[in-house]
Amino acid sequence: MKRVLLIVGGGIAAYKACELIRLLRRAGHAVRCVLTDGGAQFVTAMTLAALSEDRVYTSLWDLKDESEMGHIQLSREADLLVVAPATADLLARMAAGQADDLATTVLLATDKPVLAAPAMNVRMWQHSATRRNVMRLRCDGVTILEPDEGAMACGEYGPGRLPEPAAIAAAIERALAPRSRPLAGRHALVTAGPTHEPIDPVRYLANRSSGKQGFAIAEALAALGARVTLVAGPVALSTPPRVDRHDVITAREMSDAVDRALPADVAVLVAAVADWRVEAVADKIKKAGAPPTLTLVENPDILATLARAPNRPRLLVGFAAETSEVLAHATAKRARKGVDWIVANDVSGEVMGSERNTVHLVNAAGVESWEELPKRMVATRLADRIAAALA
Ligand code: CTP
Repeated sequence: MKRVLLIVGGGIAAYKACELIRLLRRAGHAVRCVLTDGGAQFVTAMTLAALSEDRVYTSLWDLKDESEMGHIQLSREADLLVVAPATADLLARMAAGQADDLATTVLLATDKPVLAAPAMNVRMWQHSATRRNVMRLRCDGVTILEPDEGAMACGEYGPGRLPEPAAIAAAIERALAPRSRPLAGRHALVTAGPTHEPIDPVRYLANRSSGKQGFAIAEALAALGARVTLVAGPVALSTPPRVDRHDVITAREMSDAVDRALPADVAVLVAAVADWRVEAVADKIKKAGAPPTLTLVENPDILATLARAPNRPRLLVGFAAETSEVLAHATAKRARKGVDWIVANDVSGEVMGSERNTVHLVNAAGVESWEELPKRMVATRLADRIAAALA
């Protein structure tokens, strides 16, 4: 038996929340409802109370609630928070981190997973403000179901209908299921971030890699049960849970750290390693006189070296950041470096440092293009694929 806190927002689809409660109760789960003011325009607290066989919470300002069950406790006692229907307004307030009613306060205070099933007019769903809010929430780890497509109560047609209660109940079961750990017993090696190559004691060559994608991949692999070694260049990111992190500065340090971490079942080299370093690092270069000439020498190619190493990981995944002819370059890079998969992306836009990524997975089977996703979702999808490949 799991405990679901169901937040019923305002919308004609609120009546479907009643059927959802019935399905969850029939599956043996306890359901407790929070009804927003908008939701109360469409279903009554009495109906929800009867179906859930529990009292329904409506107001943040009900002092009796605070003495019996505060909003913090309400948000933590559940195993999962479900927002259905999630209106455009509710999603916007969630994305902004507002806490101006009981529903949003509970959502802000919770430490439990959140699943939202949106329902709204098709134009509202497609509006760039809603797209932004949905993307923001997904980046924050909220699971947001895709609305159904069809004729809407307002007479328009398109995506925006609340998914059928059975589909929401199935998504709830997936969210409640104990996470399988298909990578338990496997060792995954991940490199992430840039490298810094010193010019003199105070200056260095660098690039704009933030490390976010690599850190997200390390986190996703650990979540699937892998033992993860993360070799990180200089980045301003906190270490994901259950990940063994080794900080390095230069490409040669990264190469050494990778050697030390072997053997591994899978290596995902996401780091934007500097291709060159300054040949001779001397005392601080003084400004007097003509601008200095820097002589560069090539850094070790960690990925290509690993591909030829006797203890090569069974699955070797490289990244290819390109600014033109992404697929052609990525396909050639895969062959040249001798890696199994290349994850290619176009970095001519705002990818570096941002939260999103549009990638292509290039492997022996060809090219698979993924839609634009938050980096966390690119990471979980890639981790799932890795788990399937190693199974
Ligand atoms: N890589 C590496 N060591 C290097 C350079 C790159 O391990 N010294 C890895 C990256 O972590 C990434 C892939 O190789 O997985 C990307 O290589 P990239 O720098 O794009 O390829 P290059 O061989 O430098 O090709 P080009 O500069 O022509 O795009």
